[in-house]
Parts: sequence; C-alpha cells; structure tokens
Amino acid sequence: MAESMKGLHRTHRCTELSNRNIGETVTVMGWVQKSRNKGGIIFVDLRDRSGIIQIIFEEKDVGSADFEKAEQLRSEYVIAVVGRVEARSGAVNQALVTGDIEIRATGLRILSEAEVPPFPIEEDSKTKEDLRLKYRFLDLRRPDLQRNLMLRSKAANIVRQFLIEEGFIEIETPVLTKSTPEGARDYLVPSRIYPGKFYALPQSPQLFKQLLMCAGYDRYFQIVKCFRDEDLRADRQPEFTQIDMELSFVDVDDVISVNERLIQRLFKETAGIDVKLPIPRMTYKEAMERYGSDKPDIRFGMELKNVSDIVKNCGFGVFASVVESGGSVRGINAKGQAEMPRKKLDALTDFAKGFGAKGLAYLAVNPDGTYKSSFAKFMTEEELDVLVKTMDGKPGDLLLFAADKDEVVFDVLGNLRLELARNLGLLDKDDYKFLWVTEFPLLEFSEEENRYVAKHHPFTMPMDEDIHMLDTDPGKVRAKAYDIVLNGTEIGGGSVRIHQSEVQEKMFEVLGFTKEDAYERFGFLLNAFKYGVPPHAGLAYGFDRLIMLIAKEDNIRDVIAFPKTKDASCLMTDAPNVVDKKQLDELGIQLKNQQRGLRK
Ligand code: AMO
Ligand code: AMP
Repeated sequence: MAESMKGLHRTHRCTELSNRNIGETVTVMGWVQKSRNKGGIIFVDLRDRSGIIQIIFEEKDVGSADFEKAEQLRSEYVIAVVGRVEARSGAVNQALVTGDIEIRATGLRILSEAEVPPFPIEEDSKTKEDLRLKYRFLDLRRPDLQRNLMLRSKAANIVRQFLIEEGFIEIETPVLTKSTPEGARDYLVPSRIYPGKFYALPQSPQLFKQLLMCAGYDRYFQIVKCFRDEDLRADRQPEFTQIDMELSFVDVDDVISVNERLIQRLFKETAGIDVKLPIPRMTYKEAMERYGSDKPDIRFGMELKNVSDIVKNCGFGVFASVVESGGSVRGINAKGQAEMPRKKLDALTDFAKGFGAKGLAYLAVNPDGTYKSSFAKFMTEEELDVLVKTMDGKPGDLLLFAADKDEVVFDVLGNLRLELARNLGLLDKDDYKFLWVTEFPLLEFSEEENRYVAKHHPFTMPMDEDIHMLDTDPGKVRAKAYDIVLNGTEIGGGSVRIHQSEVQEKMFEVLGFTKEDAYERFGFLLNAFKYGVPPHAGLAYGFDRLIMLIAKEDNIRDVIAFPKTKDASCLMTDAPNVVDKKQLDELGIQLKNQQRGLRK
C-alpha cells in the first residue's frame, strides 16, 4: 500500500546536492529510474525533474522493514528517501551531475507503486511518436522534454521581464470572439444562447491589440494562444502560442529596435548565444531573387542566379521559350557535387517536381573542365562557357537549373537549395543566423478567388511611396511589413497598421469587400478609428517555434506539453470527439450524418 507524506519534508531536488553536502542528512523524493539488487546491497537511481542521484540501501543503515521495501522497488515507483550524503563508494559516474556522491539511505517510503510503463523513460527515446503521444504523461517524464519545458518557462519569464521594463503592459484578450483573418480557417464554437450563431477562436489578437492602441495603452503585450485550422507541418500546430505586441506612435525602425534587444536578451539568457545587432535586413524582393524564399536560411550560400538573359536566345527550346513567355531561368551551384550519382540526381529532380518543376536541367563541370549536361547538346560551346562562368562554375561543381514562371522557379530552387544543404550537412544547429525580411508585397493575387488578398492581413499599411498605386497597380504596392527569420524559419512577423480610415476603406475596396461587408466584419475597428487613433505597429512571434530553435529540436511538438498530431488530434485525450445528443440539441445543431458524431 502506498505510504503517505506524513511528517516528511523534501529538503533537496536530486541534483541540488553536491559534494558540498557530504555528511548532511537529506530527504529526496522522486521516481525510481532503475534499481539493482546486488545481494545485501541495493542501488537505486532516483530521478526528479532536476536529474538523477544514486541511493544505496543496506540493511544495517535502513533497518530490515525498509530494506524489504527497497527490495520491491521497480522502475517508476515514487519514493521518499531519507539518508546521508556520502562520497561515491564506487567509481565516479562522469555521466551524472551527482556522479561523485550518493545517498546512504536511513529510511524509505514507497509513495506510489507503478506498473511497467509501455516504453522506457529515457533521454532520446527511440519509441514511436504515436505511442509517446498516447502516453504523453509518461513521455513528459523524459529528461529532454522536461528540459524543453523548463526552457520554455524561463524564456516566457525573460520576455515578460524585458517587455515590462520597456514599458509594455500585459493585457488579456478574449478567446471567444469574432473571426480575425490571418489567412487560415477559423475554429468555430457554437453558441447555445444564440442558436445558429458562432464564436470564432482568435487566429491572433490582432484587432483587439489595435483597439488597445486606440484606447491609449500605448505598448501592449501578451503571451497568448492562437488557433488556426490549417494544414499542419513540423513547425505548425492548430493551437500555438504567440508573443504578441503592439506599440503606438512608432514606425518600422522603432518596432525592429525594441525587438532586436528582446531577441538579444532572450538568446543570451536562455542559450548563452550572443546575437550581434543590428540584425541584417533584406527586402522581400532581394530574398526571393537570392534565395528563392521569403524566409531564407542564410547559414550557407548556394544563392540563385538569374541566367535568363544568357539563355534567352540559346538553342535549348525549354529555356528560350520560358524566357520568351515572361518566365525565367535560374540556377544554383552545388559546389563540389559534379560527381553526384545519377540516382541522387534523379531523386533531386523528383524533389523539384514535387514543387511544380517540369524538369531539372543540370550541368556538371568535370574535373578536367569538360561538361556533362542534360542540355549541352542543344547549346553551343560558347553559350555553355558563358553560362558556366555566370554561375561561377569551377571544375567539380554541379549546376542545376529550373525554367518556369518566376513563382515556380523560386519555389523549386529555394527548396532544392535547402534539400541539398540538408543532404550535404551544411546546416549547423549551433549557428544562429537572424534576418529581417522587409517590404513585403501588400497583396497577392489569389487565382482561386480571382481577387487580391492581403499578404499579411488587411490592416497592414502600404509603403508611403507606393500608396498611389493602390488603384492602378495594386500588385506592385509594397507594405510596411516585416518578418523575422531564424535559420530559414519565420519566427515572427508584423507590420505598421493603417490608421487612416480612408486608406483602410480603400484597402477593403481593393480586397473586394463592399463597405457593408467591411462594416459587418470589422465595424468595431473602423468605428474606433473615428474617435482618435494613434499611428501604431506591432509584431508577433511564434513562441513554440522560437523555443524549438533554441532547444535545437526539429519538431514543434517537442516543446509543447500536450501537442496535437499532424491531423490535429490529441492521442492522449482522444480529442476531438463525439458529444451527447443533448449537447447538440441545446446548441440547435443537427448532424448531417447521424451515424457519426454522436455518443451512443
Ligand atoms: P502571423 O500570422 O505572421 O502574424 O503569426 C505570427 C507568428 O506566429 C507563428 N505561427 C505559428 N506557429 C505555430 N503554428 C502555427 N500554426 C502558426 N502560425 C503562425 C509564426 C508567425 O511568424 N497578428 C499578426 C502579427 C502582427 O501583425 O502583429 C500575426 O498573427 O512564427
Ligand atoms: P528534355 O529535352 O525534355 O529531355 O529535357 C532536357 C533536360 O531539361 C532534362 O534534364 C529535363 O529535366 C530538363 N528540363 C525540362 N523542362 C525543364 C524546365 N522547365 N526547367 C528546367 N529543366 C527542365
């Protein structure tokens, strides 16, 4: 039977003890990592969230009753041990922080017994993620996850402290609210009191933080859950956390400046990393041209080169016709990869096709300076020489080209560049390369909806010098929008907001909203703007992504206590799930398919 805590007080966590405590009597509590009975002497590794310490049980110290209990100990039993700290009797265990000491037990209580867990509780688990997620409560005992969550807590604390020192006020905004468009589908919550009506869970607190600026709070922040029903990836969750902020009486540089100092402090204090300021900036246009991405990983080169002018009149029909029809031909130079085996090259071509490429043309510069190429036969020797020279091709290099609409070429080569870097081991997790990407296009054309949609959100301010093109050439208008990118991941984004109702109304017009539509959806914001609105701007970080990168994890789920799977379910609680008919009746909801979605 499990014993109680009566009269017991924990004095230390396991790794708070060191050789300075030798001779002291202490009380520690935790889980049995493992127990070895060497006949007359029992060694137990005791684990708590701080780490592991060795306990040694001998009948002469602990008495016969407690020794008998010690003999029953199994992995994951929860115990309390009273004992004396001693220098390690056997060899020092270099792998443990407490490897030079042990506790000689004088008392033992079994606080809870445990069944054999479905997988071992250990660092770097080899267990399949599905099983770990089903038993997340056990998975969370593993030291790597515990470290990540402690890091997360520390980071949140640093952010709070910094922002409060900088004059920000922490304010909560509602979760049951109206749709805030950030480009994803909303999660809806049916209303019981108003059958047929729904709340939307916020995709971000965007509108509320702008209203807080209208209300004069000046500098707001919140560490806040956001909800987006979108396709999930390794760095996306349906509910995730933002560090959200908004500032009044500022322009782009003010937002960037306070955020650079935040980033510097956060990385120094969580990971000991010195971030040099200012963080480099690159316009969206330059990022696309050089890296084929609006979130370039600048830890390595392999930049894109536009060779359209060189190949526009060449004999290779694919290249010439693409340029002729307004597309482009661009290439990257995979240094030293000329001898890449055919199979790997084919795999790269398939990879490129996955991003819409029609093919991937290659030219390998052999060590002797001759070429091996999928298109050499269509081009003259001189044309090839100029192409190789433009691409800075040296003997041993492999040049890869894509020809298509700019959009496709950027996507293909941007991703190919990353794939090659992964394959060639060019991505150093200890190297933290930050970048601001600025001057994003305000709008992008949606073929699906046959209209312009906001690239960031509809409240983003056009650049002063481009405002006049809103009517004539909206696709060309750049925005006062910025993203902060770390090693190819967008960790945050924001913008200066429109604070003049005429510009906001014009923006809605360009987006195809009638005045009535706009008022129906965002009337409260437009109304607020009528009563005195300060110029304002802000930014939000993906907090989970930030922690993922600081923790050097590849998956956002490893820094979230109870994450969802890729198909947005929780394997532990089995959410989402069916509900009682009574609940649906109260909400006035009838399911299309009565077989599904109802609890029996
Ligand atoms: P944005 O939509 O760019 O901007 O979101 C800000 C940051 O949130 C993170 N993020 C996500 N993280 C995990 N899972 C997701 N599904 C997910 N979606 C976004 C990204 C992103 O950079 N209101 C604006 C900010 C502003 O303008 O102030 C906004 O939400 O790291
Ligand atoms: P083909 O003449 O179709 O066999 O093409 C010759 C080479 O050009 C092959 O290596 C193709 O993969 C490549 N290729 C075809 N279309 C494109 C394209 N749009 N962009 C880049 N390479 C292409």
